[in-house]
Amino acid sequence: MTAPSPPPGPGRALMLDEIREEPLAFLARMRRQYGDVVGYGTDAWRAVLISHPDHIRHVLVTNVRNYAKEGTPDLRMLKPMLGDGLLTSDGETWRAQRHLLAPLFRRNMVEAFGPLIVEAAVAVRGDWAARPGRAIEVGAEMSRLTLRIVARALFGYDLSDDADPFTDAVEILNEAMGGLTPRTGDARFRFIGALAVIHDVVERAVAARHGNGHAEGLAGGPGGVDALSLLLAARDGRGLPAMTDRALIDQSVTLLLAGHETTAKALTWTFHLLARHPKVERRVGHELARLGGCRPTVEDLPSLPYLAAVLREAMRLFTPIWIVSRIAVGDDVVGGHHVPAGTLVPISPYLVHRHEAFWPEAERFDPDRFMPERTAGHHAHQFLPFGAGPRHCIGEHFAMMELQLVLATLLQTCRLRPADDRAVVPEALVTLRPRGGLRMIPEPWDGASPA
Ligand code: HEM
Repeated sequence: MTAPSPPPGPGRALMLDEIREEPLAFLARMRRQYGDVVGYGTDAWRAVLISHPDHIRHVLVTNVRNYAKEGTPDLRMLKPMLGDGLLTSDGETWRAQRHLLAPLFRRNMVEAFGPLIVEAAVAVRGDWAARPGRAIEVGAEMSRLTLRIVARALFGYDLSDDADPFTDAVEILNEAMGGLTPRTGDARFRFIGALAVIHDVVERAVAARHGNGHAEGLAGGPGGVDALSLLLAARDGRGLPAMTDRALIDQSVTLLLAGHETTAKALTWTFHLLARHPKVERRVGHELARLGGCRPTVEDLPSLPYLAAVLREAMRLFTPIWIVSRIAVGDDVVGGHHVPAGTLVPISPYLVHRHEAFWPEAERFDPDRFMPERTAGHHAHQFLPFGAGPRHCIGEHFAMMELQLVLATLLQTCRLRPADDRAVVPEALVTLRPRGGLRMIPEPWDGASPA
């Protein structure tokens, strides 16, 4: 066996501007030039970028105990916004919270939210039909929809009045967090103001539940259980772990933010790709014709495999979470290379999803890659939109069901066409989104009508 060696890389050259301004191009260049394990950084910090699914399994699953979230730049960026919620905590605090919330996110539990998801999407398609020819910014439109869904499902709270200030606030945070805006002067005020808007919405959701007299009264979920009822029970000492008011707010903000921005971006990219691939769009329409014009239900989803494949392929090319990272707690060896304690280990689903060894013609949009007969040959970690291992996305089942139901409902009556011929390029902020937004025009569509 050969002795472990330092990973190849550009040495200690300073590339901070490139990392900050063009992170995707930087990561792609590192992998192209140096391979699946690349070392870079400065004298002050070292990073080892890994892109091979075997190595990803090692870091996120098999040797997960050696890799912490605490101390990563992602966490430093998100903590001012999300406090000690599930996404940003570590160790025992994280374990107890995950244990508290996990039952709510099981497949059979989230299925109860199907009808409210479809109802929210029906309202959007009605709105589109009422104002034909009007261009929309798809990202903002989808954010409003997915935020309303998650607030109603997890908090029993109807956000329609708050949705706009809330999405605007999320937008401000996204830009500030993505490093575009240095948090000084006016930008800092805007950031603090945006945080206040978000806290206010959550506090009102909590107050509304209390105002009702019994914590479970308005719960959006099955059997009167939703995220807020679980959190309130913990806060009131009726569950474990006991939770403070502050923790309740952090957790709620985490679920509201993590639970809508990602889903909205997945839908946004899907609409972009469908408009550019009419054959794929037609095939989705044919599949949806099976519904005979009835609103989709959770029970219909198994008979719509191509719809699910389209969403997965869109998330392969434009994965909403383009980077996750960990810090090595102790020394390790990955792919034959040293990873000393304290090293930052970024993993970019964006790169892995375009890895030519695993995805032939990786740049091509080809939903057939995700048809059931073809996924059997996939490596378990070559497709990572929801991460992997114990910290994988708790909302995965919720998100997949929501994406399918929303897309099916909207495509039953409309499709989106580009409003201009601007190039659509990804911009890597907290989530991956089209730079400068994506303007499209909804138009009536009967592609999904029964023949
Ligand atoms: C398309 C939609 C979504 C995508 C692409 C996505 C992606 C991810 C990824 C990649 C992670 C892992 C981060 C890491 O390992 O560092 C994650 C974690 C998480 N996601 Fe999602 N997510 C989505 C939807 C949702 C929804 C709907 C919810 C809640 C309703 C949610 C809540 C969370 C939470 C709380 C965590 C932290 C889990 C933990 O650390 O235990 N996500 N998500």
